[in-house]
Amino acid sequence: MTPNRIRLGLNIDHVATVRNARGGSAPDPVRAARQAIEAGVDGITAHLREDRRHVLDKDIWALGDLCNELNTPLNFEMAVTDEMIGIALKLKPHAVCLVPERRQERTTEGGLDVAGNTDQVGEATARLKAAGIRVSLFIAADAAQVSAASDIGAPVVEFHTGALCDTWRAGEMTLFNDEMRRLEWAANLAHEVGIEVHAGHGIDYDTVSFISKISQIRELNIGHFLIGEAIFTGLNASIRRMRYLMDAARL
Ligand code: PXP
Repeated sequence: MTPNRIRLGLNIDHVATVRNARGGSAPDPVRAARQAIEAGVDGITAHLREDRRHVLDKDIWALGDLCNELNTPLNFEMAVTDEMIGIALKLKPHAVCLVPERRQERTTEGGLDVAGNTDQVGEATARLKAAGIRVSLFIAADAAQVSAASDIGAPVVEFHTGALCDTWRAGEMTLFNDEMRRLEWAANLAHEVGIEVHAGHGIDYDTVSFISKISQIRELNIGHFLIGEAIFTGLNASIRRMRYLMDAARL
């Protein structure tokens, strides 16, 4: 096994988005999750949104059962609301990732403002941690947010890599280099204060290599690109290629 191997979590929401476009039962996100686990992902990530636009309640329970059956971590992404905390405490996933949520957004834009909401995020983190759930905060690569995450005792942060990946694809190299420096710096800071570092959003076959070279990163959560690529190569092949690139970057 590659030294300092990074875990790969597959975000399964995008399968549910396609299913919901027709309102039926296909494609089934639980079947996709099973296939992804068989292909070697280390965990399944699913975001139950307030408006249930992709993952539905029945999916999250079925994904919980599947992950228990296959002994695979489920990373439950959720907004910091009483409703979601109640579901998480019943579901008892391996991990919860607290994210900001706005109805108008297409996807999770920006990170959670932990520094501006320490009471609310701190209380949610404490309740989830007390139930034995590993809590991760989805934040920007920013010193104030890392420091707030540390103050409230978050064991994990996931850095939002959306802007970094967009600047790479747009060929905006000065902005991309700034984003890379910010991520490297924040990953180091979080690691130094004892927080486990994850990253996610917008990652594809090109950007995964740069991000995987950051030695403090322990886990990546990737969805849209892998599910899209599965149209052309199949889910198994898209996951295996991503796994190969992650491992190659660490060598
Ligand atoms: N991590 C978090 C917290 C997210 O909200 C998302 C988007 O659903 C991802 C990772 C995966 O992003 P993408 O689908 O762009 O790969």
